[in-house]
Amino acid sequence: MVSIKENTSLKQYNTFGIDVNARQFASISNTQELVALLKINKAPLFVLSGGSNMLLTKDIDALVVHINSKGIQVQKKETTALVTAQAGENWHNFVQYCITNNLGGIENLSLIPGCVGSSPIQNIGAYGVEIKDTFVKCKALDIESLTFKEFTNEECKFGYRDSIFKNEVKGKYIITEVTFKLTIQNHVLKTDYGAIKGQLDVMNVKVPTIKDVANAVIEIRRTKLPNPKIIGNSGSFFKNPIISIFAYQKLVEKYPLMPHYPVTETKVKVPAGWLIDQANFKGITYGNAGVHTKQALVLVNKTGNCTGKEIIALSQIIISEIKKRYGIVLETEVNIF
Ligand code: EPU
Repeated sequence: MVSIKENTSLKQYNTFGIDVNARQFASISNTQELVALLKINKAPLFVLSGGSNMLLTKDIDALVVHINSKGIQVQKKETTALVTAQAGENWHNFVQYCITNNLGGIENLSLIPGCVGSSPIQNIGAYGVEIKDTFVKCKALDIESLTFKEFTNEECKFGYRDSIFKNEVKGKYIITEVTFKLTIQNHVLKTDYGAIKGQLDVMNVKVPTIKDVANAVIEIRRTKLPNPKIIGNSGSFFKNPIISIFAYQKLVEKYPLMPHYPVTETKVKVPAGWLIDQANFKGITYGNAGVHTKQALVLVNKTGNCTGKEIIALSQIIISEIKKRYGIVLETEVNIF
């Protein structure tokens, strides 16, 4: 029987380290426990796994269900393997498990905070790779009917930091396990992302393995991104905005150094980190909140005592300044509650 605690602090369950209370809190360690809990519970639910892509701004008046299910299964087939991980597996530990077992495809996604179960929700991505590239399917529990449904890659409707779980079926399912198709030989390494090549050179690696690529990514992330265990944060706070080529051409006349990445024939993505940095927000302190000193896209809980409302207030100042300067409206990447 899963125990339900009353009035529990969520500070240790969200990477921003925001101290709000859950009206009720239960941690489940397998799917059977989850189903049993939902059978007896009629209160509103709030699902939490790694708590790495959320900003909590108030107490949660619901039963917070912490997904802590563990387990990894590997089914090998000639040159590939189907690897299924339970939702509560820590993402980085899962990536490390794959590297140790010579399973290739997600090494560029090393050191991303969070858990396997939440990885499809925002189609996590870094250094030229997104999980949609290796995702086969996930199993999810329908909260209403308590029946399971499988979502294929296509059904997930993955986009840039986006999926069906943020849109049509938002709040309706709890992802319980995810299956990836990984390589067991002839690994296809993605080292085009400039920083990876540079880091491999620094490491003096000529013919990289999946482990080398993972180590390069870990090193890059360690130098740029704050460790949430030391300074609370949720990774990129904003999405990189996608604008029309026409708007970009106008901007580049004024800001010739503005980086951009093609998205379609008519659209480009511009790095929000660059825009925010150029607007001189990098490293600033605002009450207990701040902008990370090495990556302007990351808002931080600078003192450890920050409230969600302080982060929101800072984000609004940034959004309004970026709009004023560049005519671009930044959208948040983290989910705000
Ligand atoms: N830049 C600056 N100043 C900054 C930050 C960035 O000038 O303070 C410039 C960089 O020099 C570079 C460009 O902006 O020219 C892009 O920066 P970077 O390569 O660091 O990546 P990003 O666009 O800021 C995205 C993802 C990250 C992911 C990295 C690497 C989003 C919202 N963010 O960041 O993902 O790790 O690329 O692939 O797409 C996350 O989602 O939480 C996250 C950390």
